[in-house]
Amino acid sequence: MVRMLFITSPGSIRPEPNVESTDWAPQWITRQEEQAYFDDETAGLFLTEWSTKDSFVTGAHPGDHCPVFLHESLLMAIRWSRHADVDLQIVSFKHFAQVALMGDGRVLKEYGCRFDIVYGGCEYTTDRVEAGDFRNRQDELRYIARMEVLARSVLVWPPPQESFFYRQKLALIRRLEEVAECTTWTSRPKTSILLNKSQFTECTVLKREGSDQSKRRIFHDSCRNPQKTATDLCKSNQKILAKRQKKPDDLEAKHGMLWMVQDLVPELRKYGEYRVYVVAGKVVSVVGTTPTEGGWCIKDCHGVYGLTELTPEVLANPEPHDVLVRQGGTRALLEKATKALHDYVLMTHKALIQKAESESPGASSVLREFARIDVSVMRKLSSEAGYDYFVNEVEIPNGIYFFSQHSDGAERVMDELLEALLTSARSRFKFDDQRYKFSSDPTNLNALGTSMAFHDDDDEIEIQACDWEAGLIDMEGQGFERLRVATL
Ligand SMILES: Nc1ncnc2c1ncn2[C@@H]1O[C@H](COP(=O)(O)OP(=O)(O)O)[C@@H](O)[C@H]1O
Ligand SMILES: [Mg+2]
Repeated sequence: MVRMLFITSPGSIRPEPNVESTDWAPQWITRQEEQAYFDDETAGLFLTEWSTKDSFVTGAHPGDHCPVFLHESLLMAIRWSRHADVDLQIVSFKHFAQVALMGDGRVLKEYGCRFDIVYGGCEYTTDRVEAGDFRNRQDELRYIARMEVLARSVLVWPPPQESFFYRQKLALIRRLEEVAECTTWTSRPKTSILLNKSQFTECTVLKREGSDQSKRRIFHDSCRNPQKTATDLCKSNQKILAKRQKKPDDLEAKHGMLWMVQDLVPELRKYGEYRVYVVAGKVVSVVGTTPTEGGWCIKDCHGVYGLTELTPEVLANPEPHDVLVRQGGTRALLEKATKALHDYVLMTHKALIQKAESESPGASSVLREFARIDVSVMRKLSSEAGYDYFVNEVEIPNGIYFFSQHSDGAERVMDELLEALLTSARSRFKFDDQRYKFSSDPTNLNALGTSMAFHDDDDEIEIQACDWEAGLIDMEGQGFERLRVATL
């Protein structure tokens, strides 16, 4: 049995859950699951009272099931808990972060080491300080450092440091540029830091690091005062850069988010992008997301056009979405086009893993388990006519699998990800149902002064006993109110 701690993502929880949004969907779950997983830890991720979608409630269902609205991240936890080899516990990020920041870090270590996999504590697409999840940058960095220590003993996924890297979009873009230039030989829009001389025009777009869901993206034609906006954002960049030069150790400046100016890609804006989910090195699902007036049009892309088929007639389709999602075509054409897209994505994926791992020798890149690679098309920059694929960005999970509109693909991604995590955990750490065994890091796990006894067994540490209650009292003393932990 693999013990998993599932930390809910703070980004998924909204004050007013909107069940019509693409990350919520109606589901039947068992009464037992409802009792086990619906509480303060999952508040904001489920709704049991609702009046819409009545046909769902009145549909035939077994008596021991109940209808609920679930956020897809909670659905993922519940699906994973149904796996015969998984013993899953859910904790909210808020509570987990409190434990992680307690004292000198030993509390986290003792808590975390009760599990084989700690999932979800390190999702950094957005700025967690800005979002109010940490009081300040020091707390956030302390948290990451402690998670790094924990990651030596259990599988912490996504891994703290690399996860942090993906928030720095400029650094990621530089990596993507190298891959496009040296591996796939394809075009990319030019991207630079927004500075005094940068041009914000109809042909460029402003976007910031540490963003998702287009929250920090500005188009010239929808900006009320483009000149002033560009000047203000440029000043914010200059402040960060000047501080980085003067005070290299200043944490705020070091981790400040920069605004970038990027060439506008009309095809990306009009047709949107493919979100290609790559799990354990294989493409599991492709979703087409096209911007519309009020939001996004989202569809499974079972078939795509090949780049050479993107003729003016196809591109002039009155439904921009139908440029991403192929209509018709022979099976041979469809297979060829799909293979070309997959090959491009997998080549980029492999090169990104190599880069990530060459920068942190000995580490295994998070992309080996999961990557969401957002791909669109652009006109070739060389003198040749035609189109190239390019990667707009790479994300590691912070939800949004479009469960409500793409349930088959979303559930496949969830299931494949679990298998990938189990495989990774099994290959990195040894499990034993009776005892915990760690293959490295013989540091002091005797966190609360009372509970753990261990001895050296070759180079393994064996934890023989753990009186968790003692720890709990200690934690309560430090302001931590409730913590659900199974007793050994
Ligand atoms: N260079 C660009 N040209 C045209 N549209 C863009 C460009 N960059 C981003 N967009 C549009 O803005 C959206 C959000 O930008 P993106 O880079 O994906 O940031 P985020 O991480 O906030 O989603 C994209 O999905 C795309 O529709
Ligand atoms: Mg995006």
